Amino acid sequence: MSLSATSVEKGREAGSKLAPGPILLLGAPGVGKGTQAKELVKLWGIPQISTGDLLRGNVARDTQLGRVAKEIMGRGELVPDSLVNEMVAARLLEPDTANGYILDGFPRTLAQASWLDGRLAAAAQGLPVVAVSIQVNYNQLLRRITGRRNCPVCQRIYNIYGNPPQKDGVCDVDGTPLVQRADDTEKVFEERMRAYEAKTAPVVEHYRGLGRFAEVDGDRPIATIAAGIVDAVERLRQ
Ligand code: AP5
Ligand code: MG
Repeated sequence: MSLSATSVEKGREAGSKLAPGPILLLGAPGVGKGTQAKELVKLWGIPQISTGDLLRGNVARDTQLGRVAKEIMGRGELVPDSLVNEMVAARLLEPDTANGYILDGFPRTLAQASWLDGRLAAAAQGLPVVAVSIQVNYNQLLRRITGRRNCPVCQRIYNIYGNPPQKDGVCDVDGTPLVQRADDTEKVFEERMRAYEAKTAPVVEHYRGLGRFAEVDGDRPIATIAAGIVDAVERLRQ
């Protein structure tokens, strides 16, 4: 399910007209933030910054942050704002973020949003942030979460129901055995959804209120959604 040639061209054309600047991908667990971020990276050449991936990297390396985050993530709760903000601050200092970046799964609380807004306002000549909220219904989300498989080497995302690898259980790109995330169970998904409704839904409303905001239907082919995001960002950047 990669982008069709037409969508890629459409995206490239749209992408070439603008400096993408900071883009926020918001939405519930399993809505497709990571999948869309990877498509947009190909179109715009700016990095994906996924706080979930960064935290999982810390868990895998058994860092001090990883040891704190592991249990919280396993329960489906949110890692404390101060730790996540500090991690994002360090990532944003890297030079590949100069022309923009795609924040995937951040900000997730109003405190994180306020920290990010302050940081962007303090930046000398930065473009304003554009926020895109992806929508998918609950039953579809559950199917996406329980069916998801990841390549631990290249991070490609599959789904045994809707987006399977060519050979069962093995990554198409590098042949690595696919893994399932520890928090991709129905029980933890329910807790992640509770955290989303309580803490992250207000963040979506915050960015809706700021105006540079778009909502996209995430229950469509991956390429169609990506083209819709490109169109929305181009419109909101004008
Ligand atoms: P995180 O890793 O961000 O998880 P999440 O928000 O729950 O989102 P997911 O990664 O599960 O879903 P996604 O939207 O990326 O969907 P994907 O593209 O993979 O966070 C994990 C944990 O880390 C949190 O619970 C928290 O503890 C902690 N954390 C992270 N950030 C934090 C923060 N800022 N503050 C505090 N704590 C934080 O797609 C899902 C599946 O659907 C895949 O199988 C894919 O193939 C399939 N799919 C995608 N698009 C389509 C489509 N269009 N059609 C059919 N299938 C599709
Ligand atoms: Mg993700």
